[in-house]
Amino acid sequence: MLDFSLELQQRYENSTSPESRKEKGQVFTPAEIARFMASLFSPIPSEYYLLDPGAGIGSLTVAVCERVARLGSPRRLIAHLFENDAQIIPLLKKNLENSKRVLEQAGHRLEYAIHVEDFILATSSGVSGQRRFDDAPLDVRFDGVIMNPPYFKVRKDSPYARVMDGIVHGQPNVYAFFMALAARLLKEDGELVAVTPRSFCNGLYFRGFREWFFRRMTLDHIHLFESRIDAFKHSAVLQESIVTKARRLGKPSRRVSLTASFGRNLGGNLGRCEVPAESVLDNSCGGYLVRVPESPDDLKVMMLVESLSDRFAGTGLRISTGPVVMFRAKDFLLYDLRTHAAVPLLLPHNVRPFETVWPLGKNGKPLAFKLCQESLRLLLPTRNYILLKRFSAKEEKRRLTAGCFLRNKYPLSHVGIENHVNYIHHAERELSEDEVYGVAAVFNSALYDRYFRILSGNTQVNATEIRTLNFPPLKALANIGRRVRENVLQTETIVSSELGVSGSLQERLLST
Ligand SMILES: C[S@@+](CC[C@H](N)C(=O)[O-])C[C@H]1O[C@@H](n2cnc3c(N)ncnc32)[C@H](O)[C@@H]1O
Repeated sequence: MLDFSLELQQRYENSTSPESRKEKGQVFTPAEIARFMASLFSPIPSEYYLLDPGAGIGSLTVAVCERVARLGSPRRLIAHLFENDAQIIPLLKKNLENSKRVLEQAGHRLEYAIHVEDFILATSSGVSGQRRFDDAPLDVRFDGVIMNPPYFKVRKDSPYARVMDGIVHGQPNVYAFFMALAARLLKEDGELVAVTPRSFCNGLYFRGFREWFFRRMTLDHIHLFESRIDAFKHSAVLQESIVTKARRLGKPSRRVSLTASFGRNLGGNLGRCEVPAESVLDNSCGGYLVRVPESPDDLKVMMLVESLSDRFAGTGLRISTGPVVMFRAKDFLLYDLRTHAAVPLLLPHNVRPFETVWPLGKNGKPLAFKLCQESLRLLLPTRNYILLKRFSAKEEKRRLTAGCFLRNKYPLSHVGIENHVNYIHHAERELSEDEVYGVAAVFNSALYDRYFRILSGNTQVNATEIRTLNFPPLKALANIGRRVRENVLQTETIVSSELGVSGSLQERLLST
């Protein structure tokens, strides 16, 4: 059945432009991923209500039909599909008619309803207003939802934004709306299987959504694709994607299954482990963060880091984003160091592991910042800081790069730090050089790099996430720093010995 679906999909792709599909959020699920998603549902009972919001050609429902077709005793599958693109509907119908025929031949029944409607607007009654986003009584409740929802940012003035107002703040993404509305339509213990970007798992933008969602849903399974480009053969979708299986509470799951595959290669050696639910869903600082450990080693990394009793902010350390936003500070940007009253301006390319390399020209970027009465508000007094890059390129080996900025190397009174760099200081006093090296060593270590990847699927290093990290106390940091200053090449061994990482784990962390 999925082969037939694929043929229809190809026909549709040949008759439409990539641009128009992109605009409609039409990235179709490859057959092997659709089959995998359908396999995640619990055993299918004799009567099963299925929802497929954003159905496209219908491959996900068809994958469930394939699963049902293999069952010995008769099943009645009642599928509701939502798709708002009228152009695709004839193909969707054709696809479902084919599945209906095949299922009937195998002794089962498929009944389906195609709703040519906007899923969000059609199912969100009772969501806005006083009872905003609450569980409104609806007449159809589903045993299963399978979906690959569209993925784009919702503009603030869109009718969608009003529907979910106050829940998914910031720059909401339409896929979170789909997940929330689908979750509402499940029976107790009903299951949702969704392939989405990983971005909802952490970060402020999705916090409201997570709080709503995980108060109602329990996580059963997460599958991580190493690269969405490979999984979906679609270069526009850059974020890592995951398949989530969650269940309407019911009984909370004690354990979560985790699987990972390199891209869409799901056959054979799927990495798999089962972990306690609280290792994945962390509500210790509120906001329900979803962490995705991919292996037993990842679990060890989590346990090691989380056995540190202090949080970053609790050690007295503070992290802030560089105050210089270049397009707002054009009058103060200097390209020539001979200019009178120039102080260093530090951009990401100036930040190297343990170092701040300045001056360093790059593609016509400014080198320095004008020091004058008006520019003072954008400058920092020259002190000892750790500089942490806020972004890394996807192909960069490390997500975290921390440089040391030491006062005694810069005789000028002030320094400018650009907005793509975070700087770390102490709330009440200046950090010692040992402490600066110690903090940089921890961020530059394979252990924390791995830990950070478990926490976050994107390449941004947000100050909010750093503040809640478990972190060694300042005394231990100074100790690490003192030893690292003597021999920076031994950083990994020093951090490992101070934080109790075993030699074999350290070796494996360094080899990945
Ligand atoms: C990412 S595609 C996935 C299609 C299909 N489920 C699959 O997995 O191959 C999302 C689909 O949702 C449809 N869509 C986008 N916005 C929608 C909305 N508000 N309501 C219903 N369908 C929508 C698009 O036209 C597209 O076909």
